[in-house]
Amino acid sequence: MRMVDLIEKKRDGKVLSQKEIDWVVENYTNGTIPEYQMSAMAMAIYFKGMTAQEMADLTMAMVNSGDSLDLSAIEGIKVDKHSTGGVGDKTTLVLTPLLAASGVKVAKMSGRGLGHTGGTVDKLESIAGFHTELEPDEFIRQVREIGIAVIGQSGNLTPADKKLYGLRDVTATVDSIPLIASSIMSKKIAAGSDLICLDVKVGSGAFMKTVEDGRLLAENLVAIGNAVNRKTIAFLTNMQEPLGLAVGNSLEVEEAVNTLKGEGPKDLTELCLTMGGHMLVAAGAAPNFETARAKLEQSLADGSAFEKLCEFIGAQGGDVAMIRDTSLLPHAPHIIPVKSERDGYIQEITALPIGHAAMLLGAGRSTKEDQLDYAVGIVLDKKVGTHVNAGDVLCYVHSQSTDIPNVIAEIHEAFVIEPQEAVVEPLIYEAIG
Ligand code: URA
Repeated sequence: MRMVDLIEKKRDGKVLSQKEIDWVVENYTNGTIPEYQMSAMAMAIYFKGMTAQEMADLTMAMVNSGDSLDLSAIEGIKVDKHSTGGVGDKTTLVLTPLLAASGVKVAKMSGRGLGHTGGTVDKLESIAGFHTELEPDEFIRQVREIGIAVIGQSGNLTPADKKLYGLRDVTATVDSIPLIASSIMSKKIAAGSDLICLDVKVGSGAFMKTVEDGRLLAENLVAIGNAVNRKTIAFLTNMQEPLGLAVGNSLEVEEAVNTLKGEGPKDLTELCLTMGGHMLVAAGAAPNFETARAKLEQSLADGSAFEKLCEFIGAQGGDVAMIRDTSLLPHAPHIIPVKSERDGYIQEITALPIGHAAMLLGAGRSTKEDQLDYAVGIVLDKKVGTHVNAGDVLCYVHSQSTDIPNVIAEIHEAFVIEPQEAVVEPLIYEAIG
C-alpha cells in the first residue's frame, strides 16, 4: 500500500477499507508515515467525512495501537462517563458516587484540564493526598471492593490518538466530527467499560456550538459504541452558562459535596439524577427510569452517596476530613464581588470567558506545565434568566490578589445582560441511544 494512493482515495470521497485504515494507523504510529502525509489525510477526512463503518474501523485501529484495560475480573456491568468539556462541570464527582451507592460499578479514566475547561483529576487533586496513579491491578481491586475508582490517563493507551490529536491541533483539523468521535471513543473503549455514557455539551463555550452539530456528534459516538459492542448512551446538554455555581478546583469539590448532601444547585442535581437514572436502567440496575431516579434520590437523602464519596476519596489517599468539613479545603484570601453595570435580564453567562477568567486566576492551565492554584475561582451569584439592577452582585471571585482587572473584564464580557426577558435553554436537550 502507498499512503499517497489512500490520501487520493479519501480526497476523492471514496471509502477506505478496514485493512487500509489499519495500515495507515499502524504506520503513522510507528513513524513510517510522515506527519505531512497524515496531515493531508486528516484534511481529506475533514472535507469528505467518513462512513459509520470507517469511523468504527478508525476507532478500533487507534484502540489497537496501544494497551487496553481488561476489566473482566470485575463482576457485572462496569460504567464510564465522559463529558466533551464544560465549565464548572463537576458532574463526575457527584454522579460516580451516586451510581456506586446504587450498586453500579464505575471504572473511570479522567484527564487533566487544558485551556478554559477544567479536568476531573485536577479537581480531585485539590483534596490533600489524593492521587490517580493506580496500577491496573489496584484499580480493578478498588472497583471490585468499593465500586468506584478514578485513574489518570497514563500508560500506553491509544498512542495513535495522542499523536494524531497533536497533529490535528496544528493543522486546523480538530473540529471534524469523524475525527472527534473516533478520538473520544478510542479512549473510552481502551479504558474497558461495558457501558459508556457521554455528555455532549452544546453552546458557545463548547466544541459543538449548535444543537444540530451536537446531535450529529452524539449520534456518531453512539453508532461507534454500538458497532463495537459497547452499550453507549449520549446526552445533549446545555452550556449557555457554567454548570452549577462554582468554577475552580476546590470550589467545585465543595459544591459536589453539597450536592451529594442534597444541598446542591438545581441544574447540577438535575443533570446527575437524569443521567444517573438512564445509566442505572442501561446497566440493568433498575427496571425503568422512575424507579432508577427514586433510588438515586434515596441515596442522596440517606447519605449513602456522600459516604461512598468519602470511601472513594480515602481509598485513593485523599484526606477525608476535607470532605466531611469542606472549610479545610484550600481557600483563597480574597473574595471579591463583581457587580452588574446595567439593569436587565441575564441572557447568557458565556462559558469561554468565565473559563478564561478562572484560568487567569490560576485555576486552569494555559500550557501543560502550568502549576494550578486549587483555592481560586469564581462562584456565580446569579444564573441565566435572572433580572438584575446595576450594582447587584453577579458573582464572587476567589483570588490571591485584589489587583485582577483582566479577570474582572473577562467576567463582564461573559455576562450578557439585556432589557428583554431571556430565553432559558433546557438543561438537557435530548438523550440519544
Ligand atoms: N476530545 C477528544 O478526546 N478528542 C477530540 O478530538 C476532541 C475532544
